[in-house]
Amino acid sequence: MSADVTVSESAFIEVDRVEKVFDVRRRTGFLKRELRRVRAVDAISFRVARGEMVGYIGPNGAGKSTTIKMLTGILTPSGGRLRVAGIDPSRERTRLAHRIGVVFGQRTTLWWDLPLIDSYRLMHRMYRIPDGRYRENLDRLVELLDLAALLEVPVRQLSLGQRMRGDIAAALLHDPEVLYLDEPTIGLDVVSKARVREFLRELNAERGTTVLLTTHDLQDIEQLCSRVMVIDHGRLVYDGALSGLHEAGESERTLVVDLERELPPIEAGEAARVVRVEGPRQWLAFPASASAAPLVAHIAARYPLLDLSVREPDIEAVIAKMLYAPGSSGEGSPERRAVVPGAGGS
Ligand SMILES: Nc1ncnc2c1ncn2[C@@H]1O[C@H](COP(=O)(O)OP(=O)(O)O)[C@@H](O)[C@H]1O
Ligand SMILES: [Mg+2]
Repeated sequence: MSADVTVSESAFIEVDRVEKVFDVRRRTGFLKRELRRVRAVDAISFRVARGEMVGYIGPNGAGKSTTIKMLTGILTPSGGRLRVAGIDPSRERTRLAHRIGVVFGQRTTLWWDLPLIDSYRLMHRMYRIPDGRYRENLDRLVELLDLAALLEVPVRQLSLGQRMRGDIAAALLHDPEVLYLDEPTIGLDVVSKARVREFLRELNAERGTTVLLTTHDLQDIEQLCSRVMVIDHGRLVYDGALSGLHEAGESERTLVVDLERELPPIEAGEAARVVRVEGPRQWLAFPASASAAPLVAHIAARYPLLDLSVREPDIEAVIAKMLYAPGSSGEGSPERRAVVPGAGGS
């Protein structure tokens, strides 16, 4: 645990006690300003091996995007040590740019008024991608992301899901070894989400591309990542398997049951409890670690069942339970992020 000196070849991304402090000037009255320090990222350490697909999750304002921006070199850390492919991102941002791809779900890197294909041509030149490789990658990405019909369409006319697929292709034209995705499925419909996930799975399996995925959607993580890191108020509070996170958060899934008619709350013993009833529809909470099958069988044998569906636990709820459960150390202190003036620097 102690030796952090050796740089192992397998650690493609190395983050050692990295911090980012923002000084924010806030107006508090006429000609009055208050300087506040926001510790957006607070002494975070982790390593990601080549070929890993890691989920990076946490509530709004936790520090996810700030971390990604430091890993690309857009932001310079206030402290700590950062290496991606052996490169210090903020010092050699351009050199690193050839080895990484980034997608920000909230903001496109494509040229808004130009047809999609023109953005790709510009990237071809910007990244000096050899012609053969460019054409090969473009063909493959157009096929995998189903972009053929969209290439001549100006980006501003694309739907959110189409634009996102266009952005992902743009991030991968130069064969990056690592892909950072910051909320790539935000605002996407179910079909587009499924497509993006399927593509990422293939990319990782076939090319061994390392993926760091920031998301609000627990299903993104469940379907793609064996490992998940949770950040809250700038601190890394969990790093491990998703199953472990569920245990830590004692999270629950919800079985939504449609009965033929309005009935008293379903009796399911220890397996589940009814948390809501609306006419013939009932909601039952059961542990996320348990299979839904026995519960469904139990209900189907005793109740006039019309339809049912299972809802995954909401990521915010899982994290909230993990962080703020009675007796846990992190007992809700949102002020932790606001650091006393004068502190910091280190
Ligand atoms: N450029 C900035 N200037 C000042 N504060 C910032 C800046 N960028 C982010 N922050 C603050 O840092 C914290 C973390 O933000 P961010 O990394 O965007 O969170 P997330 O992506 O997890 O939602 C928030 O409190 C946010 O307001
Ligand atoms: Mg963000």
